[in-house]
Amino acid sequence: MTHNPNQEFDGIRQADNPLPNWWKWIFVACVVAALVYSIYFHKYSSWEQDVAYENEVKEHEEKFPKAIAVTSDDGSNPLRGNTNAIAEGEKTFKTICAACHGPTGQGLVGPNLVDSEWIHGSSDSEVYATIMKGIAFDKAKLGRGPMPPHENSLGSEKVYQVMAWLASQNKSLKASR
Ligand code: HEC
Repeated sequence: MTHNPNQEFDGIRQADNPLPNWWKWIFVACVVAALVYSIYFHKYSSWEQDVAYENEVKEHEEKFPKAIAVTSDDGSNPLRGNTNAIAEGEKTFKTICAACHGPTGQGLVGPNLVDSEWIHGSSDSEVYATIMKGIAFDKAKLGRGPMPPHENSLGSEKVYQVMAWLASQNKSLKASR
């Protein structure tokens, strides 16, 4: 069978005409533009994936410092009684923790944080660990949801601020055991 460019099947004719020149030139122009752009982008522009990633990480770490900005020798909250920290901590509590612990810390799905009952310890170092590391869901203890970790989302300084506010609301939160 010889190749017939203008086949006809069931009354439908398939034309095999060359593409219009204007179409071909747009196609060629697109290919050239893509080549030029990729060479420019990878060789001559200053944007690099690694650098962009590192910059974003740096930005995040500046906002939420992971390293302990403030420390004390005995593990107690170094921001205890600090008026600024208490005010900042209250703001953080109301935006982040209140969803689970209630706007005044009276408890919701998460336990009451302003009474004298502490499941995971009532000293600054224990409460700090609880908030930073979170508490995994435990099937054996029905009714208790997980408590999310905050070491990456808030970082130590913001957590100490929240604890400064908590200590101002709850005298049973002790500096040390
Ligand atoms: C998604 C809900 C949720 C959020 C958000 C949350 N928590 Fe919790 N939290 C819980 C739950 C549930 C528990 C109880 C875990 C358990 O005992 O198994 C808990 C436990 C705690 C405890 C231990 C209480 C005790 O009696 O020992 C502290 C302290 C605490 N949360 C503080 C915070 C702070 C501060 C924040 C905000 C930075 C926060 N939580 C955000 C759900 C949450």
